[in-house]
Amino acid sequence: MKKLFLILVLLAGMNLVGAQKADYNIVPLPKSITTDSTQTFTLRPGMGIAYDSDNAEVSRTANFLRQWVEEATGIKLKLMAEDVEAAIRLGVKGPAVRKGRKAVKAAPLTEQQMEGYTVEVNATGIDIRALNPIGLFRAAQTLRKALPVGKHQSVSFPFTRISDQPRFVYRGVLLDCARHFYTVDFIKQFLDVMALHGCNQFHWHFTEDQGWRFEVKALPRLAVEGSVREKTVIGPGNMRIYDNVPYGGYYTQEDCREIVRYAAERYINVVPEIDMPGHMMGALHVFPNLGCTGGPYPVAPHWGVMRDVLCGGNPETLDFLKTAFGELCDVFPSKFIHIGGDECPKDRWRKCPKCQAKIKELGLKEENGRSPEDQLQTYLNHEIEQFLASRGRSLIGWDEILAGGLTENAIVMSWRGTKGGIAAAKQNHRVIMSPNVYAYIDHPQLKDYSKQPQTTGGYQVSCSKIYSFEPLVPDALTEEEQDCILGVQANLWTEHIAFPEHAFYQLLPRLAAMCEVQWCSPEQKDFEDFKKRLPRLEKLYDNLGVQHCRQVE
Ligand code: ACM
Ligand code: ZN
Repeated sequence: MKKLFLILVLLAGMNLVGAQKADYNIVPLPKSITTDSTQTFTLRPGMGIAYDSDNAEVSRTANFLRQWVEEATGIKLKLMAEDVEAAIRLGVKGPAVRKGRKAVKAAPLTEQQMEGYTVEVNATGIDIRALNPIGLFRAAQTLRKALPVGKHQSVSFPFTRISDQPRFVYRGVLLDCARHFYTVDFIKQFLDVMALHGCNQFHWHFTEDQGWRFEVKALPRLAVEGSVREKTVIGPGNMRIYDNVPYGGYYTQEDCREIVRYAAERYINVVPEIDMPGHMMGALHVFPNLGCTGGPYPVAPHWGVMRDVLCGGNPETLDFLKTAFGELCDVFPSKFIHIGGDECPKDRWRKCPKCQAKIKELGLKEENGRSPEDQLQTYLNHEIEQFLASRGRSLIGWDEILAGGLTENAIVMSWRGTKGGIAAAKQNHRVIMSPNVYAYIDHPQLKDYSKQPQTTGGYQVSCSKIYSFEPLVPDALTEEEQDCILGVQANLWTEHIAFPEHAFYQLLPRLAAMCEVQWCSPEQKDFEDFKKRLPRLEKLYDNLGVQHCRQVE
């Protein structure tokens, strides 16, 4: 008897017997959770997930849910037709509203409502409802994160009603695949981790001084030659000590379409960036005629801001850009296209006869603190904005695009703090906040540098720092101006991050902190509470085999 008791205690310790409890206190925290812990529904192997199998999106999410439950707990569920009684029921209900006997058209859904969902757990099982399949996917992620990770015979779900929707429509993460190349398989894993955190915009930075990594079929030499640097600088600063090992890699258009497809299945849009007119040494290496001096230009073997940029006065520059952006639009359906615009020194433009002739032709004069050269950059942006508009797209640019004056519909991504975003919102332009002091997760996350791999910069962007960010900056913006803020983005630059393990270490758990900034309302946010909810998510990271920093400060 004693022996049996001991075995049971041991098995319970190994999570092999008894019902383990689900916990809805997940990351990001849902908007509203009402739980009655005195009553539970028990999920067991062989139970079913019922869904509308005629709806391909709903079917996909049902499959994801089945897979996630098994991955996290070992419990195998069955997929069933919608009208069969099942433990978990997925349903999409349109927004039609009835008044009297007449059906009236409901107001169009906001993007946040489209992602909203409810989860109800009662004696009959788990009901997941949404107005759109996106909401079902978000709800399935919520259930996944509520699961206790381990091998279990059953999981008991306290009765609950969860109602949720995100705060911001744009919840992004940038991955720099230009300073270091990341494989398609890694990017898929990265997208899975983004989806786990409710993120919906993958900003793909893949053209740079250190390598052009997007295939342009009309310019076959561009990616083949422009993606390879002869060597890479070693160490934390730019000490000009090199490894002397050629480094390359680029994405074919087929790779890109595969990423777009994979992301879309996880309700993530891919925002591609061609960074122009600076950060162009990869392209200039192949087409030196596009630079003001004529080159030659090496693909940059070290980091920093390069003086050589595309010539703003050479008509071939616009031809080149339209060819590249044209193919970008063919491959990426995103309504947002990022044109970079950051860190473009004007030294060459000030001395270049072609740039100066163009400035003269356009009649650009120093005014309102705007140099003619900054306005020449705005001219290029304007041309590209028109081109993108003809393809039904809007441009996003880093906050430097404010310097020469914003083009009509430009969206500003504010990285040098929030001031660029504030200035743009005051001009009634849409804004994405990505300030370096809160959102640059290539920087150290711990005070003690000896405890983490060497990376960029001196100041720390800790979890608590990220968590404290308020993107609407209410001290600076009126309520109307705050409406311009589409959302928030974390940026993973990779000058010093060459390997997948390191990339995930930089990302996690800081993305957990960032996703509460993106998803939760300010009243819900509480860092101490966040820290209590984090361990369950970290178990999921371990279960998925992704690296993460195990200290939170
Ligand atoms: C940037 O960090 N240069 C956008
Ligand atoms: Zn020039």
